[in-house]
Amino acid sequence: MKRIVVFASGTGSNLENLIHYYKAHTSIELCLIVSNNEHCGAIEKAKANKIPFIVLGTKHINDGNFIIQAMKINGIDYIILAGYLKMIPKELILHYPNKIINIHPALLPKYGGKGMYGNAVHKAVVLNKESVSGITIHYVNEHYDKGKIIAQKEVKVESTDTFEAVEKKVRALEILWFPQVIESVILEKQIP
Ligand code: GRF
Repeated sequence: MKRIVVFASGTGSNLENLIHYYKAHTSIELCLIVSNNEHCGAIEKAKANKIPFIVLGTKHINDGNFIIQAMKINGIDYIILAGYLKMIPKELILHYPNKIINIHPALLPKYGGKGMYGNAVHKAVVLNKESVSGITIHYVNEHYDKGKIIAQKEVKVESTDTFEAVEKKVRALEILWFPQVIESVILEKQIP
Protein backbone atom coordinates (compact mmCIF):
# COMPACT_ATOMS: atom_id res chain seq x y z
CA MET A 1 0.00 0.00 0.00
CA LYS A 2 1.36 3.45 -0.93
CA ARG A 3 0.49 6.11 1.61
CA ILE A 4 -0.29 9.66 0.53
CA VAL A 5 -0.81 12.92 2.39
CA VAL A 6 -2.73 15.89 0.99
CA PHE A 7 -1.63 19.42 1.90
CA ALA A 8 -4.51 21.89 1.50
CA SER A 9 -5.49 25.32 2.80
CA GLY A 10 -8.57 26.11 0.74
CA THR A 11 -12.13 24.95 0.31
CA GLY A 12 -10.90 21.39 -0.14
CA SER A 13 -12.95 20.40 -3.18
CA ASN A 14 -9.98 18.60 -4.73
CA LEU A 15 -9.21 17.01 -1.39
CA GLU A 16 -12.78 15.74 -1.08
CA ASN A 17 -12.60 14.32 -4.59
CA LEU A 18 -9.34 12.55 -3.76
CA ILE A 19 -10.82 11.16 -0.55
CA HIS A 20 -13.71 9.61 -2.50
CA TYR A 21 -11.49 8.33 -5.30
CA TYR A 22 -9.08 6.53 -2.98
CA LYS A 23 -11.60 5.36 -0.39
CA ALA A 24 -11.73 1.77 -1.56
CA HIS A 25 -8.46 1.76 -3.46
CA THR A 26 -6.44 -1.43 -3.16
CA SER A 27 -2.96 0.13 -3.56
CA ILE A 28 -3.18 3.78 -2.47
CA GLU A 29 -4.32 5.13 0.87
CA LEU A 30 -4.99 8.80 1.62
CA CYS A 31 -4.03 8.62 5.25
CA LEU A 32 -3.21 12.17 6.36
CA ILE A 33 -4.16 15.78 5.70
CA VAL A 34 -1.93 18.76 6.45
CA SER A 35 -3.01 22.39 6.53
CA ASN A 36 -1.78 25.72 7.81
CA ASN A 37 -5.33 26.86 8.54
CA GLU A 38 -7.46 25.04 11.06
CA HIS A 39 -10.59 26.86 9.89
CA CYS A 40 -10.41 25.95 6.21
CA GLY A 41 -12.75 23.68 4.28
CA ALA A 42 -10.02 21.08 3.89
CA ILE A 43 -9.87 20.50 7.65
CA GLU A 44 -13.67 20.24 7.76
CA LYS A 45 -13.43 17.53 5.10
CA ALA A 46 -10.74 15.75 7.11
CA LYS A 47 -12.98 15.74 10.17
CA ALA A 48 -16.10 14.71 8.25
CA ASN A 49 -14.24 11.79 6.69
CA LYS A 50 -12.41 10.87 9.90
CA ILE A 51 -8.97 11.22 8.33
CA PRO A 52 -6.14 12.23 10.67
CA PHE A 53 -4.88 15.79 10.14
CA ILE A 54 -2.10 18.09 11.24
CA VAL A 55 -2.47 21.87 11.42
CA LEU A 56 0.93 23.52 11.07
CA GLY A 57 1.29 26.54 13.32
CA THR A 58 3.42 29.52 12.29
CA LYS A 59 6.38 27.96 14.07
CA HIS A 60 6.31 24.84 11.92
CA ILE A 61 5.14 25.99 8.46
CA ASN A 62 8.72 26.56 7.32
CA ASP A 63 10.31 23.91 9.51
CA GLY A 64 11.26 21.26 6.95
CA ASN A 65 12.73 18.88 9.51
CA PHE A 66 9.58 18.99 11.64
CA ILE A 67 7.42 18.20 8.61
CA ILE A 68 9.78 15.42 7.46
CA GLN A 69 9.46 13.85 10.91
CA ALA A 70 5.67 14.03 10.69
CA MET A 71 5.81 12.37 7.26
CA LYS A 72 8.09 9.62 8.56
CA ILE A 73 5.91 8.90 11.57
CA ASN A 74 2.96 8.48 9.21
CA GLY A 75 4.91 6.41 6.66
CA ILE A 76 4.17 8.82 3.82
CA ASP A 77 5.30 7.86 0.30
CA TYR A 78 3.87 10.76 -1.74
CA ILE A 79 2.86 14.33 -0.91
CA ILE A 80 -0.04 15.85 -2.84
CA LEU A 81 -0.60 19.61 -2.86
CA ALA A 82 -4.20 20.61 -3.50
CA GLY A 83 -4.53 24.31 -2.90
CA TYR A 84 -1.78 24.60 -0.30
CA LEU A 85 -0.75 28.24 -0.28
CA LYS A 86 2.42 28.15 1.79
CA MET A 87 5.90 27.57 0.44
CA ILE A 88 7.11 23.99 0.83
CA PRO A 89 10.37 23.96 2.80
CA LYS A 90 13.45 23.04 0.76
CA GLU A 91 14.41 20.19 3.10
CA LEU A 92 11.08 18.50 2.41
CA ILE A 93 11.50 18.88 -1.36
CA LEU A 94 14.99 17.39 -1.20
CA HIS A 95 13.73 14.54 0.97
CA TYR A 96 10.92 13.67 -1.46
CA PRO A 97 12.41 14.11 -4.95
CA ASN A 98 9.70 13.62 -7.61
CA LYS A 99 7.31 12.61 -4.88
CA ILE A 100 5.59 15.93 -4.31
CA ILE A 101 2.83 16.66 -6.81
CA ASN A 102 0.92 19.91 -7.25
CA ILE A 103 -2.05 20.96 -9.35
CA HIS A 104 -2.19 24.43 -10.88
CA PRO A 105 -5.37 25.83 -12.45
CA ALA A 106 -3.77 27.06 -15.69
CA LEU A 107 -1.48 25.89 -18.46
CA LEU A 108 1.99 26.52 -17.02
CA PRO A 109 4.39 28.16 -17.66
CA LYS A 110 1.68 30.74 -18.34
CA TYR A 111 -0.17 32.17 -15.35
CA GLY A 112 2.12 30.70 -12.71
CA GLY A 113 4.35 32.15 -10.04
CA LYS A 114 3.80 34.56 -7.21
CA GLY A 115 0.24 35.79 -6.69
CA MET A 116 -1.10 33.47 -9.38
CA TYR A 117 -3.63 31.42 -7.47
CA GLY A 118 -7.38 31.23 -7.18
CA ASN A 119 -9.39 33.70 -9.22
CA ALA A 120 -6.33 35.82 -10.07
CA VAL A 121 -5.38 33.10 -12.54
CA HIS A 122 -8.76 32.96 -14.29
CA LYS A 123 -9.09 36.76 -14.33
CA ALA A 124 -5.71 37.05 -16.05
CA VAL A 125 -6.71 34.39 -18.59
CA VAL A 126 -9.92 36.28 -19.47
CA LEU A 127 -8.17 39.66 -19.50
CA ASN A 128 -5.58 38.36 -21.96
CA LYS A 129 -8.32 36.94 -24.19
CA GLU A 130 -6.84 33.44 -24.13
CA SER A 131 -8.73 30.89 -26.22
CA VAL A 132 -7.64 27.95 -24.04
CA SER A 133 -6.92 27.35 -20.38
CA GLY A 134 -6.65 24.21 -18.33
CA ILE A 135 -4.75 22.44 -15.59
CA THR A 136 -1.14 21.53 -15.01
CA ILE A 137 -0.14 18.68 -12.74
CA HIS A 138 3.56 18.88 -11.94
CA TYR A 139 6.31 17.86 -9.57
CA VAL A 140 7.31 20.43 -6.99
CA ASN A 141 10.83 21.76 -6.92
CA GLU A 142 12.39 24.77 -5.19
CA HIS A 143 10.93 27.19 -7.74
CA TYR A 144 7.27 28.09 -7.52
CA ASP A 145 5.22 26.43 -10.31
CA LYS A 146 8.37 25.43 -12.21
CA GLY A 147 8.77 21.72 -11.46
CA LYS A 148 8.64 19.11 -14.22
CA ILE A 149 5.22 18.86 -15.84
CA ILE A 150 3.49 15.49 -15.50
CA ALA A 151 0.23 16.25 -17.35
CA GLN A 152 -1.73 19.13 -18.79
CA LYS A 153 -5.38 19.11 -19.82
CA GLU A 154 -6.96 21.90 -21.83
CA VAL A 155 -10.37 23.47 -22.09
CA LYS A 156 -11.67 25.98 -24.61
CA VAL A 157 -12.28 29.52 -23.41
CA GLU A 158 -15.05 31.33 -25.28
CA SER A 159 -14.72 35.06 -25.90
CA THR A 160 -17.91 35.53 -23.87
CA ASP A 161 -16.66 33.53 -20.84
CA THR A 162 -16.43 35.34 -17.53
CA PHE A 163 -13.64 34.36 -15.14
CA GLU A 164 -16.25 32.46 -13.12
CA ALA A 165 -17.12 30.44 -16.22
CA VAL A 166 -13.44 29.65 -16.83
CA GLU A 167 -13.03 28.65 -13.20
CA LYS A 168 -15.94 26.24 -13.51
CA LYS A 169 -14.50 24.60 -16.60
CA VAL A 170 -11.03 24.31 -15.07
CA ARG A 171 -12.43 22.86 -11.85
CA ALA A 172 -14.22 20.17 -13.84
CA LEU A 173 -10.85 19.19 -15.33
CA GLU A 174 -9.27 19.08 -11.87
CA ILE A 175 -11.98 16.79 -10.55
CA LEU A 176 -11.76 14.48 -13.54
CA TRP A 177 -7.98 14.21 -13.93
CA PHE A 178 -6.12 14.87 -10.68
CA PRO A 179 -6.87 11.54 -8.93
CA GLN A 180 -6.16 9.51 -12.07
CA VAL A 181 -2.88 11.24 -12.82
CA ILE A 182 -1.65 10.83 -9.24
CA GLU A 183 -2.61 7.17 -9.38
CA SER A 184 -0.70 6.67 -12.64
CA VAL A 185 2.44 8.31 -11.23
CA ILE A 186 2.37 6.25 -8.05
CA LEU A 187 1.60 2.96 -9.77
CA GLU A 188 4.00 3.76 -12.62
CA LYS A 189 1.31 3.45 -15.26
CA GLN A 190 1.03 5.47 -18.46
CA ILE A 191 -0.04 9.03 -17.65
CA PRO A 192 -3.51 9.63 -19.14
C1 GRF B 1 -7.45 24.52 -7.14
O1 GRF B 1 -7.92 25.35 -8.13
C2 GRF B 1 -6.07 24.03 -7.47
O2 GRF B 1 -5.81 23.95 -8.82
C3 GRF B 1 -5.19 25.07 -6.85
O3 GRF B 1 -5.85 25.46 -5.70
C4 GRF B 1 -7.25 25.26 -5.84
C5 GRF B 1 -7.73 24.50 -4.64
O4 GRF B 1 -9.12 24.48 -4.57
N1 GRF B 1 -3.84 24.62 -6.63
P1 GRF B 1 -9.86 23.51 -3.55
O5 GRF B 1 -9.43 23.89 -2.16
O6 GRF B 1 -9.48 22.10 -3.91
O7 GRF B 1 -11.32 23.76 -3.76
